[in-house]
Amino acid sequence: MKNTAASLLQMKRDGQRITEITAYDYSTAKIMETAGVNAILVGDSLGMTMLGYDTTLPVTLEDMIHHSAAVARACTDTLVIMDMPFMSYQTGVRDAVLNAGHLMKEARGHAVKLEGGAAVAEQIRAITDAGIPVQAHIGMTPQSVNVFGGFKVQGKGEEAAKRLLEDAYIVQEAGAFSVVLECVPPKLAALISRKLMIPTIGIGAGAGCDGQVLVYQDMLGMNLGFTPRFAKKFADVGQLMIDGVKDYIREVQEGTFPQDCHSFVKSDCSDEYLATLEQTLGKE
Ligand code: KIV
Repeated sequence: MKNTAASLLQMKRDGQRITEITAYDYSTAKIMETAGVNAILVGDSLGMTMLGYDTTLPVTLEDMIHHSAAVARACTDTLVIMDMPFMSYQTGVRDAVLNAGHLMKEARGHAVKLEGGAAVAEQIRAITDAGIPVQAHIGMTPQSVNVFGGFKVQGKGEEAAKRLLEDAYIVQEAGAFSVVLECVPPKLAALISRKLMIPTIGIGAGAGCDGQVLVYQDMLGMNLGFTPRFAKKFADVGQLMIDGVKDYIREVQEGTFPQDCHSFVKSDCSDEYLATLEQTLGKE
């Protein structure tokens, strides 16, 4: 089934849960699509997972285009959502539309995601009006880490809960086709999910959301020694890779790899001819 912004909305109406996961390159995206996920998020979390930064703030539009294009080339049925990086939309509606357009034209994903509620409602409206589906993202929004003073749960306390619910309504009203709720108290996330027409996609926000999103390294054991509390470790791919690479090192060192069957072409010269060749070369 081809997943689109519209089909995700329909999944909410039909009571079907939505699966979203990050990917940042061609081969991983192929694996995610083969597994049958509904949507791939090319998150600006690639700043940390792929590029080794300590926040998402240094990620550029060029980084996002480069990685999103690789993911989009791998996907035929999966909805590819591309994060708009820090300062590519906060500076105004015109910048937001132009930069969303760059992502769509150059990377060829199917939708963009941006962080914030009321503060970016005009941007969401204008990008949507330009024909680009927008996934909103409220709660703990990592691009605002310096305002929050760290990666902290949002929506705690009555005032904050009310503001978050208002933000959820505002992004829906502005035209977002779905909204990520990150690190929001589960009961509040469930309430928002019941109230909105558009699907909520939770991360660390409990089971009451209409779908879930995770950073794949967090749920496949690829952040060595660390799994965030909200991410179950579904497989230990990191350890599998270490074991595989250790076996490779050992076999190369002891000479058991490669064997004849691993050669690309079988020699079509006889052993006698090669022996003569060796002798001839030795004499030159
Ligand atoms: O960048 C990202 O991967 C995200 C998810 C954590 C939702 O925004």
